[in-house]
Amino acid sequence: MSAIDVTAPIGVFDSGLGGLTVARAIADALPNEHLVYLGDTARVPYGTRSAHTVIRYARSCAAKLIERRVKLLVVACNTVSAVAIDMLRVELDIPVLGVIEPGARAGVAASGTGRLGVIATAGTVASGAYVRAVAAENSRVEVVAQAAPLLVPLVEEGWTTGEVPRLAARRYLTPMVEADIKALVLGCTHYPLLASMITTELEELAGRSIPVVDSARATADELSAILEERALGAPERPAELSLLVTDLPERFADSASRFLGHSLEGLSVEAVDL
Ligand code: DGL
Repeated sequence: MSAIDVTAPIGVFDSGLGGLTVARAIADALPNEHLVYLGDTARVPYGTRSAHTVIRYARSCAAKLIERRVKLLVVACNTVSAVAIDMLRVELDIPVLGVIEPGARAGVAASGTGRLGVIATAGTVASGAYVRAVAAENSRVEVVAQAAPLLVPLVEEGWTTGEVPRLAARRYLTPMVEADIKALVLGCTHYPLLASMITTELEELAGRSIPVVDSARATADELSAILEERALGAPERPAELSLLVTDLPERFADSASRFLGHSLEGLSVEAVDL
């Protein structure tokens, strides 16, 4: 591995705009770091696709960010982290951080030795990646994983409050509460926007509070630790965020600003081909 330029940006990619929840958590935790975010808006969603296809897509996203000379790659997408992280680590000669390992570690810390619930896309659940990551952390913690596919389009539509998302979430959370989970990991880029509603619903269903772990925040914390350990942190400076997308869908600005938590004013947005 050649010497890494600490002033270079960190690359972050996702199947679409949902990974901006991870970019936002990183920007909050690391205010000096420039970020280049790539959202594969032309091919989203990944969560319903085969592992083979997701691996192919992940390779092309990573190559685009390597072209931009990023110093480190954050895979914001849980589905990509679930099926392609080992391949990316082998093939790239920069550090690669996914969201599953940090999410699993934070989940284990929150659940003690009790059962840990995970909600995620169908692809992430089918991969068994959270089960493996949790077992690597503490083999006594049992994972109860549940695909919660309807929550993704609801969040995309901006339906994060009200009866429809509440009832959908309840349907997915009920079996978890019946299984007596002690904490729940939000294993998908979109779910942090539902975090407060999910917390309330869990409490109502269980009659006690159940900690909810946001894997975006856990990833940002782990990234801070990695930059510090390896002396890769950028010098003090005003951070920049550039957005690359593979399609500029209608209502792009609306949707992106919801995930990012602020307007896109002043940000550079570029459409790219993979
Ligand atoms: N980014 C995906 C994930 O975190 C959710 C959206 C999709 O299915 O592509 O798993």
